[in-house]
Amino acid sequence: MNEQNKGNQQEESRGFNLDGASEFFGRIAGSESAKKLGTGRKMVAAIQEEAREREEEAKKEKHGRRVYLECTDVVKQYKQYDSVVTAVNRATFSVLENEFVAIIGASGSGKSTLLHLCAGLDRPNAGTIRVGGHVITNLDADALGRFRGENIGMIFQNHNLLPQFTAMENILIPTLMCSKPGSEYEGTFRQLISSLRIADRLHHLPSELSGGQQQRVAIARALINSPRVVFADEPTGNLDRANADEVLELLLHTREALGQTLIMVTHDMSIAERADRIFRMENGVLSLMKS
Ligand SMILES: Nc1ncnc2c1ncn2[C@@H]1O[C@H](COP(=O)(O)OP(=O)(O)OP(=O)(O)O)[C@@H](O)[C@H]1O
Ligand SMILES: [Mg+2]
Repeated sequence: MNEQNKGNQQEESRGFNLDGASEFFGRIAGSESAKKLGTGRKMVAAIQEEAREREEEAKKEKHGRRVYLECTDVVKQYKQYDSVVTAVNRATFSVLENEFVAIIGASGSGKSTLLHLCAGLDRPNAGTIRVGGHVITNLDADALGRFRGENIGMIFQNHNLLPQFTAMENILIPTLMCSKPGSEYEGTFRQLISSLRIADRLHHLPSELSGGQQQRVAIARALINSPRVVFADEPTGNLDRANADEVLELLLHTREALGQTLIMVTHDMSIAERADRIFRMENGVLSLMKS
C-alpha cells in the first residue's frame, strides 16, 4: 500500500475521507470570512455563519425578488389621559423590492401611522420593522437618520415643507444627509422641477405656493436622493385629475428607472388598482385586499 492510500484509509477509519479536500479548502480559503479570520475552528464557525446568513437571505426571496420591507407584529398606541388609541394593531406584512403596494382605508384607520413607522419617523410600541436588510427598530437615532437619508423618500400627507425655506431649498434639504457632492444632484433636480412643473416657483416660500404646488415640491424633495424606497401618503390628495395622473406617472417611472419600492396610501381607487397589491387598513388592522 502506498503512502497516499495509507493516509486515505486512516482518514476513512476516522469517519471521512479526503477526496475533494483540496477543492474544499481552496473554496473556503477564498471566502470573505476566511480571509478575515485565518484558519482553524474560528474559520469553520465563521463559514457556517456565512452559509446560515445566505440561507436566511435566500428564504426571503419570493419569485426571484427580495423582500425589501418586513413588518412583524407591529403595534403603535397613543395614550392620552386614561384612553388608549391602538392606531396600528399587530401589522405583519412584507413588500418585495421594486413592488408597488397601495394601502387604502377609512380616515383615522391608521394608514399614516403605519407609513411613518415603516419610514423610521416614529417608533412602534412592539414588533420589528426591517428595511433593506436593516432592523430599523434597533437602530439608534443617528444611524436611523443616516439610513433614512440615503434610502428612504417620504411624501407626507400634509407636505411638511419647512416654512422659512424656499421651494428650492426644501427640495435640496435631504441632500445634506448624504455624502455625495452637490453637483451630483443637478441632473435629478432639473428633471424633477421640469416634470413637476415647479421651475418657476423655486424661489418662493411654501406660504406663497398653492396646495398643489406645495405637494409637488414635497414630491421633488422625496425623490431628490434617488431613494431605494418611497413612502407616499396620499401624494395626489391635493391635485386635480390631470396633475394627479402626471404625479402618478412620475412616481411609477422613477420606480421603474431606479428599481425602487413604492408604498402608497391613497383614497383614489383608480390609482390603487394600478398597484401590484392592495392592502386595507381597518381600525388599525391591516389585511391584504387584492394581490
Ligand atoms: N400623535 C397622535 N396622538 C394621538 N393620537 C393620534 C396621533 N396620531 C394619530 N393618532 C390617532 O391614531 C389613529 C390613526 O391615525 P392616522 O393618522 O394614522 O389615520 P389615517 O388612516 O392616516 O387617517 P386619514 O385618512 O384621515 O389620513 C387616529 O385615531 C388618530 O386620531
Ligand atoms: Mg393619514
